[in-house]
Amino acid sequence: MSFQAPKGVKEYVPPQAATFYAIRRAFADAAGRAGYAYLETAVFEDTQLFARGVGESTDVVSKEMYTFTDRGGRSLTLRPEFTAGVLRAVLEYGLHRGQLPVKVWTDGPVFRAEAPQEGRYRQFYQLDLEAIGSEDPAVDAETIAVAWRWYQDLGLTQVRLLLNSLGCKECRPIYRARLQEFLRALDLDAATRERIEINPLRVLDDKRPEVRAQLEGAPLIADHLCADCKTYHDTVKQLLADLSIAWEDAPRLVRGLDYYTRTTFEFDHPLLGAQSGIGGGGRYDGLSEAIGGPALPGIGFGLGLDRTVIALEREGVQPATAARVEVYGVPLGDDARRRMFLLVDELRRAGVSADMSFGGKGLKGAMKGADRSGARFALILGERDLAARAVQLKDLTTAEQTEVPLDSVVDVLKGKVQ
Ligand code: HAM
Repeated sequence: MSFQAPKGVKEYVPPQAATFYAIRRAFADAAGRAGYAYLETAVFEDTQLFARGVGESTDVVSKEMYTFTDRGGRSLTLRPEFTAGVLRAVLEYGLHRGQLPVKVWTDGPVFRAEAPQEGRYRQFYQLDLEAIGSEDPAVDAETIAVAWRWYQDLGLTQVRLLLNSLGCKECRPIYRARLQEFLRALDLDAATRERIEINPLRVLDDKRPEVRAQLEGAPLIADHLCADCKTYHDTVKQLLADLSIAWEDAPRLVRGLDYYTRTTFEFDHPLLGAQSGIGGGGRYDGLSEAIGGPALPGIGFGLGLDRTVIALEREGVQPATAARVEVYGVPLGDDARRRMFLLVDELRRAGVSADMSFGGKGLKGAMKGADRSGARFALILGERDLAARAVQLKDLTTAEQTEVPLDSVVDVLKGKVQ
């Protein structure tokens, strides 16, 4: 009997895993450069955190959560997103009592029971960044810029930034009522009629052509923002323009989670078909109170790592991945093997990545290993070399071979690979 990963679980193995890892590292750099600190939070949480935070009426909470009862009878849920858990941790550890905004980022697997297809998985991976405790349009623009610069650093050129404002607790209810009024007059099925009463904004997101056609004249939030929200949104746009970050107004962008207020955005990639949303985020000024915390505004985003890997493949971009080993040791005979084992350790300590042939392979088999490793140099150490306290250094790109004293080979290689 053999096993396979559960349906819809996305895994990364070499060589694709190198891309996955490289883009995470690039994000760690991008977030760090902007003053965001790393944090690691629970993979599973009290189910109520998501029910209250993300919203009972969302697809994520009502249909897609992996919920289970633990041995103590508690209802727990594998995180379907990061924001609620990150905010819970910020409150639990009192980070919001220090300097504001609390600027943090994290990454890892997230879980949603969706119908799997390319770019849509049940275990997938997000990079998540949050700025909590500040209601300043510059923070909105900064978070967007961190993601935008990261896409640029990776070499992606076709990412689009879609931008909207969802208003605040003053203007959204007025808009919501206007929208409901408009929607109730349309010819819609029972399920959609139900949605009009619970979450009318989501109806704007309906993809069915017969519904789309009827939505043509729907009232838009942009025309119903209060003066404060409008000024706030205009300032965010001005700051993005100052940063030369191009956005497109997306007046129907609503997002699938209930906590959003004001600034909302999505990063879209045209080469990804139905799964074109490669990242998304926005402001969530009421979330802290919804999960029992003090009033604490926040903004952040989640970027889909899996879809970013696909976007890179579609654009034909190879990010600078962590290099394979630079040096590969080929020891011939027991004494040479023992010496090579030490030499490889010395090289690594000197900052030169190195690997060696294991399992007592002969010259041919070991050289094949050197080729496959992708190393630029092979170090061949036979019994005679050992007696002469020397080693053969072969440049695998030119096939040129030189003899180097064992005592100085680490220095010689350090000079060649740096
Ligand atoms: P989200 O839009 O639900 O936002 O997810 C963020 C990103 O995760 C999406 O843009 C997409 O790239 C990726 N994603 C979502 N579902 C899947 C899936 N089934 N398979 C593969 N990738 C997927 C959030 O999760 C919010 N917590 C973002 C946020 C942070 N808002 C404020 N702070």
